[in-house]
This record gives sequence, C-alpha cells and structure tokens, in this order.
Amino acid sequence: MTAPLKTRVLKADAATVAEAARVLASGGLVAFPTETVYGLGADATDGRAVARLYAAKGRPAFNPLIAHVVDMKAAQMLARFNPKAAQLAKAFWPGPLTLVLPKAAKCRVADLATAGLDTIAVRVPNHHVARDILAALGRPVVAPSANRSGHVSPTRAEHVQADLAGRIDLIVDGGATPVGVESTIVACLKEPVLLRPGGLPRAAIENVIEQKLAYAPSPTHGADQAPLAPGMLASHYAPRTRLRLNARRVEEGEVLLAFGTPLAEGARSAEKMLNLSARGDLIEAAANLFSHLRALDAAGGRAIAVMPIPADGLGEAINDRLTRAAAPR
Ligand code: TXA
Ligand code: MG
Repeated sequence: MTAPLKTRVLKADAATVAEAARVLASGGLVAFPTETVYGLGADATDGRAVARLYAAKGRPAFNPLIAHVVDMKAAQMLARFNPKAAQLAKAFWPGPLTLVLPKAAKCRVADLATAGLDTIAVRVPNHHVARDILAALGRPVVAPSANRSGHVSPTRAEHVQADLAGRIDLIVDGGATPVGVESTIVACLKEPVLLRPGGLPRAAIENVIEQKLAYAPSPTHGADQAPLAPGMLASHYAPRTRLRLNARRVEEGEVLLAFGTPLAEGARSAEKMLNLSARGDLIEAAANLFSHLRALDAAGGRAIAVMPIPADGLGEAINDRLTRAAAPR
C-alpha cells in the first residue's frame, strides 16, 4: 500500500449503509459485520478493487474469495446449482453456509476474485447490516475475514480497526457478530464435500442431503501458503501453455506477458502481447493477471514469456501465482 488511508468507523444505521454502498460502488474497501465474522468487502465485479483488497490484507498469495449476495436469485447469476446445492441453499440461506459451485457463464465476478478458477464460492449472509449493504449496492461483494493475513478473524469492529486502520476506507460497526466463527464451506461440484468446518454444523447438512459428507480441507484454506495438493478441489488455475518467467527477451513463436516499460527485447515480434500494467502499477497488474493469462493461453504460442515483476507489495502474490503456474505438471 502507498499512503495510509483515512479509515472511518461509523455506527451501522441507514445513512451508514448508504455510504458503505457508495464507497463500494466507487472501488473502495468496506469492513462490515456478517453473522459469522466481520468481512472486508470489495465490489466483486471490480478487478482493481479486488486487487486493493488483497493488498490491504497483506496476503502473500491470491486465495479465491467468497462472493456474498443478497438472495438465491442473485446467487444464480454467479453459479450453477445442482439439485443438492439447491437443496442446501433452500435449507440454510441466508446463513453461515458457503457453497463452492461451477461458475455460471454470465458470472461478472472479476477473475482475480476467484483466482482464475472455474468455480466460485457463494454465500447469502444472515445479518441485517450485510444484507442491507448488498441490497443497496445491487452487486456481489467479495469479503474475506477482515483481518491482516495470518491473524485471527475479527468478531468486533475494534478487532478490524486494530488490524486494518489506515488500509481500508470504512468500518461499519454493527456490534459483535453472533456466530463468531467463519461459515461452513461445502463444494457441490459432483457429490457434496466439506471443505471447511464452520458455523453450520456438519450434522445439519447431512440431515438435509441424507448422506455423509466427505471432508477435504481446501488447500488454500487456513495457512495462507498451504501446500498445493494436485487434484484437490481448489487446485490452482494453471494455463496449458508453458510459462517462461523473468524473460528479458522474446523467443521465436512465444507470446508475451509484459509488465511496465521498456518492453522485453523482441516484444514487437511476439505473436501476441498483453501488458499487465504499462505504467508499472502492481494493483492494476493483479487485476489483469488471470484474464491476461487466459487470453495468452488461448493464443497458441510455443510458450508464454513473462517479463520480470518486482516482488514488493502485490508483486509477491503475483510472482507466487506465476511461479505455481510455471511449475512442471
Ligand atoms: O464466514 C465467512 O465465510 C467469512 C465472512 C466474512 O463471510 N468469510 C471468510 O472468507 O471466511 P475467507 O476468505 O477468510 O475464507 C474463504 C475460504 C478460503 O479458505 C478459500 O480458499 C475458500 O473459501 N474458497 C473460496 N473460493 C473457493 C473455491 N472456488 N474453491 C475452493 N475454496 C474456495
Ligand atoms: Mg480468513
């Protein structure tokens, strides 16, 4: 982050809800209470706002985020529900249950928010402040727990303030969160799988679907740099085309993922070139990362040459993700 922000703390009331929606709509970061823990929200459809959110949390990696929506209708704009997923949503939404589902074709959530995955985590929170903000904004809001990376999840506005003052725009103080632990996460891609135990007990879920839930901890949950377990549900997005990192020149037949200027030698003869940020802005680069990778992957080059990217700020997470994508599979 650059200059510290002035972080306002406002008591949750109708005027504050309207202000929260206004700040979110203009790309700002707002912490607000949900029934589980306080979330740090950004407009899910705004890649730059999402990039700023990762920077504010100080996450060394881009973990996929949960998209919060106001109701089932809004959820269906983002994700596809199989019958079991629909059953769970009907039984437990609004409430402390997050469903990981296949992304809908019409989903407008930024690629960075889902870390480039074809799946998306969705939840309908059961807290009047969260719901009022979502309704006022009329768009999905991504919200990880509103703590600095590696710290515990906040259940009061004061916890958020201690961790994030100077790094976010607004904290909506709605008192202590009633549940106090994060939502339970269930993937419904084929058979339902428990990814994270949380505020909704496993037994309640098993009662509704009338079957036992397998438990597969998400590799991106918990420790921010949990090891990548191949084949697991949240396994990372990886392009099919080979990546060549820290490229200072473009080889024959390669496409180029550029950063800043001057461009790598031979950039003009690249089959295709996309610049993460021509002016060398790491927030802009993060917002473009996954969509540029996808577009270059589709261009059919021999390899994707990637120019060096500085390791400061969001550069650490960008390099982390590029290194994973470049690892031999
Ligand atoms: O209660 C909660 O869920 C809180 C409140 C604010 O809603 N949010 C929260 O978010 O705990 P966060 O970012 O701290 O945890 C989200 C978890 C991460 O472990 C992430 O890996 C997982 O959800 N996740 C998100 N998208 C996923 C996906 N497509 N596949 C698998 N796991 C996913
Ligand atoms: Mg968290």
